Amino acid sequence: MVQIVLIGFMGAGKTAIGKQLAQKLRIPFLDTDQLIEEELDLTIPEIFENHGETFFRRKEAEILKKIQMQAQDGIISTGGGIVLNQDSQEVLQDFAHVVFLNVRFETLIERIQKDTENTRPLFLNHSAKAFQKLFTDRLPLYEKNGTIIVENEKKTIEEIANEILLKVGV
Ligand code: S3P
Repeated sequence: MVQIVLIGFMGAGKTAIGKQLAQKLRIPFLDTDQLIEEELDLTIPEIFENHGETFFRRKEAEILKKIQMQAQDGIISTGGGIVLNQDSQEVLQDFAHVVFLNVRFETLIERIQKDTENTRPLFLNHSAKAFQKLFTDRLPLYEKNGTIIVENEKKTIEEIANEILLKVGV
């Protein structure tokens, strides 16, 4: 069984790289944000607005646990804040492969601004300074919970996917 979890800040490339990995390995691609939206029949901004961030973090932990218990092949892309919840961290620690996609803050901001299809409530409701602090505060959590670190800067999606496969050894 192959399960590879991708973690990292918003805009780190988890979805694009996750889809590429899934295609290469011919295994399912799972996205925790998407699964939560489907389960609740609400968009991420609606969930934040109607139920709050803590509720969303609990849902993330539940979904991640469910995926792990199913023990089926899959590439699992997570929301950038999944590492904030203690339960999610415990589940992450039970996965053999957790890839932290590391990207500089300046690059992330550029990508988030360009990605108009994906509305990120935390980007919209934080000042530039507070958003940067969010990033700085989370960095050690990504480092702690990742079993592998891959830099996603000035490389193609294909190159990164190959690098991950080499490091994971599948
Ligand atoms: C969040 C990241 C988002 C989404 C939600 C909260 C975060 O996912 O889960 O808006 O706290 O970093 P992406 O990392 O896919 O943008």
